Amino acid sequence: MSTVSSAPPLWLRDNCPCADCRDPRNGQKLFQITDLPAGLAVETVLDALTADGAPAREVVWTPDGHRSVYADTWLDAHLPGSPAAGPGNGPGDGRGEDDKELWDAAGLAGRFPEAEWAAYTADPAVAAGALESVMRFGFVLLRGVPLRDRQVLDVARTFGFVRETNYGELFEVRVEADPNNLAFTGARITPHTDNPYRDPVPTLQLLHCLVNAAQGGDSGLVDGFHAAALLRAQDPQAYEVLTRVPVPFTFTDDRTTLVAHRPLIGIDPTGRIREIRFNNRSIGTLRRPAAELEAFYAAYRRFGALLSRPELRLEFRLAPGDCLIFDNTRLLHARTAFAESGERHLQGAYADIDGLASTLAVLRRKAVTA
Ligand code: OGA
Ligand code: ZN
Ligand code: ZN
Repeated sequence: MSTVSSAPPLWLRDNCPCADCRDPRNGQKLFQITDLPAGLAVETVLDALTADGAPAREVVWTPDGHRSVYADTWLDAHLPGSPAAGPGNGPGDGRGEDDKELWDAAGLAGRFPEAEWAAYTADPAVAAGALESVMRFGFVLLRGVPLRDRQVLDVARTFGFVRETNYGELFEVRVEADPNNLAFTGARITPHTDNPYRDPVPTLQLLHCLVNAAQGGDSGLVDGFHAAALLRAQDPQAYEVLTRVPVPFTFTDDRTTLVAHRPLIGIDPTGRIREIRFNNRSIGTLRRPAAELEAFYAAYRRFGALLSRPELRLEFRLAPGDCLIFDNTRLLHARTAFAESGERHLQGAYADIDGLASTLAVLRRKAVTA
């Protein structure tokens, strides 16, 4: 473990908590990195106390004589190499594979993430548990949500902000006479992520079931992070190709032309799985060297086969009043075909997971201070 005096000086000074360095009202930094003197170094380290009396170290800096007081608890949690600071690059950002519990269908047996709407809206602990499920498993199913037109928007507003798109504030999933998307027919829809042709992609999707009286139309979810991790273990080269080759996803109708060039498996700067885009309906024409196209298509098939493995797919049937909230950067969703003679109606909306994570963090903060 490094000590205060061996910590990188610019890093340590950038974290000075004093009122000259940070506005005490909001904690925001008041200086630019370029304002710090060249040759910055720790001159002396003294035992001290923070303003509220906690044990601390006081650093006297050279050449400018600035003084910084760091609480021991802060140093223990943040100094590079301290166990609490996490392995390697420190804790993740909450979005990558290391911050998730990866699952297959059997792994969720007996602990399907769900909550009752009445309890979810009345009890902050139930709300926190439901939002935690979205972060951890990638989804939660809220039950007993009122069967009201546009209710899905109110569900999104319990934790964040609706993301409006060319489909509108919400979209109707039901059979349409002239569908601009196969979702609006009775066709089977294989596991996919929504809107991969958008950059940024909507990170959360909601599907609120109003009517599900048709023959068929059952739902499926697949953990795309789990499938990608399996691919990495079984065929590292295929995995690598899918993290590297940009895929042009497209959507076109008479009012819209959307294109995004992203890989099927997005990795974060530390090389961990962070974002899946997979949608056979909207993959456009790749234009790459022939050898790369060969490698891409072999890997795409391999990943597609993994994603269709029955043991990876959690199956259930949405009932009226169910609202599924899921991470559209991780889970793939699917439905079986349904008879167009029967009635089936869902209302869908998009939102973003940073807002959900923020609501969860505030709920947790309040639970700690309550
Ligand atoms: C969608 C979709 C699934 C369903 O609208 O994006 O995938 O159950 N719908 O109809
Ligand atoms: Zn300072
Ligand atoms: Zn979809």
